[in-house]
Amino acid sequence: MRQKERRPGQKSGTGPASGRRGDERGNSRPPKPANRPAPPQQAAREPASAPAAPERPLMERSGERPPERVPVILESLGAGDFHLIDSGNGEKLEQYGPYRIIRPEGQALWKPSFPSHVWDKVDAAFTGDTDEEGTGRWRFPKEALGETWPLNLLGVDFLGRFTSFRHVGVFPEQIVHWTWMKQQVEAAGRPLKVLNLFGYTGVASLVAAAAGAEVTHVDASKKAIGWARENQALSGLEKAPIRWICEDAMKFILREERRGNSYDIILTDPPKFGRGPNGEVWHLFEHLPVMLDICREILSPKAVGLVLTAYSIRASFYSIHELMRETMRGAGGVVESGELVIREAGLDGNTPGRALSTSLFSRWVPK
Ligand SMILES: C[S@@+](CC[C@H](N)C(=O)[O-])C[C@H]1O[C@@H](n2cnc3c(N)ncnc32)[C@H](O)[C@@H]1O
Repeated sequence: MRQKERRPGQKSGTGPASGRRGDERGNSRPPKPANRPAPPQQAAREPASAPAAPERPLMERSGERPPERVPVILESLGAGDFHLIDSGNGEKLEQYGPYRIIRPEGQALWKPSFPSHVWDKVDAAFTGDTDEEGTGRWRFPKEALGETWPLNLLGVDFLGRFTSFRHVGVFPEQIVHWTWMKQQVEAAGRPLKVLNLFGYTGVASLVAAAAGAEVTHVDASKKAIGWARENQALSGLEKAPIRWICEDAMKFILREERRGNSYDIILTDPPKFGRGPNGEVWHLFEHLPVMLDICREILSPKAVGLVLTAYSIRASFYSIHELMRETMRGAGGVVESGELVIREAGLDGNTPGRALSTSLFSRWVPK
C-alpha cells in the first residue's frame, strides 16, 4: 500500500491539510459544531484557534483514483439488544436490552409515529441538565437505575452506560461496519490485523477479536479504555489478542508508519474535535487528510479495507469520498461512500419505519 514519493520542497506541516486556516471569509476559528449529538469526548472543547497540523506532509499520489460506488446507504434495523423504536420532535426512542430510552436527535424533524403514552413509558430520558454530571443528566421515570447494564450486539457482551454526554457506551449505527468487518475476518483464512482508531468502549474491537482478528485499539481517553477492558472481561475475551492503547490516534499511526507496522483492516471514527491524553488537538477538517494518508501507508499489502466514519460535521459524504479516492490513487479496488442510517423498527423491533441518518462514511475495499 506504500507510495514513496514525497511532495518536493514541501516543508512539514505545510501540506493541504495544514494550509487551510479558517474559512473563505477569513475566519481563523473553526466552524461551530453542527446541531447533532456530541461525541463522547466532548472533552474536546473547540480549540480557540486553528491547531498546528501534524508533522507529516501528504504523500504525492499517482495513478487512477479507485472506481466509485455512490451513494451507498448502509442501513440497520438494529441487531442483538438494540433497535430504534420511533423518532420525532427532535428525539429518538430506543430499546437497549431491557431499557427503553429517550435521547435528543436533531435529525428527527418529523412527528413521532407512536402516541405519547408509548413515549411516556420509558426507563430513562436524557435531560442534559448543565449542573449535573454522569447519571445526574438522566431522568429515570420508573425507578432509579444504575450507571451500567449488560447488553449484547453481534454476539459480544458489553455494558450500556448512562454517560453525561447523552451517549450509552455504543454507537449502534456502526453495526453495519462491524458486521462487514466480522465477515471479512471470518472469511480471511488467516488472523487479520485490525486497527480500531478512536475506539471508545471497544465494541468494534471485541467483535473483531471474537471473529479471530488480532486487534489494536487506540483511544485518548483512559476512562474509555477502562470501560473497554471491562467489556473485554464481560465478553469472556480476556485471552483474545487485543492491545489497548491510550494515546493520541495521530501520534500512534505516525509511529506505526515509522516502524513499518501494517494492518489489514483500519476502522477510523474520529470526532469533529478531540484531544489526545497530552492535550494533542484533533480537528477533523485540519487533520483528516493526513490521517487518511498515513492510514493508507500502514495498510498491509493484502489489506481488506479502510473504513472512515464521520459524524457531527457539516459536510457532504462527497467530501470524505473524494478525499478517500485521492488518498487511494493507484491502489485499485473501489471506494464506496454514503450515509449510515438506522431505520425505525417499531415496538417489536421488526416493523420498518423511517430512516434516521446518523453519520457519513467512506470505505476503500480492494474489490
Ligand atoms: C465517537 S467515539 C468513537 C466511537 C467508536 N467508533 C464506536 O463506534 O464505539 C470518539 C472517540 O474518540 C476518542 N478521541 C478523541 N480525540 C482523540 C484523539 N486525539 N486520539 C485518540 N482518540 C481520541 C474519544 O475518547 C472517544 O472515545
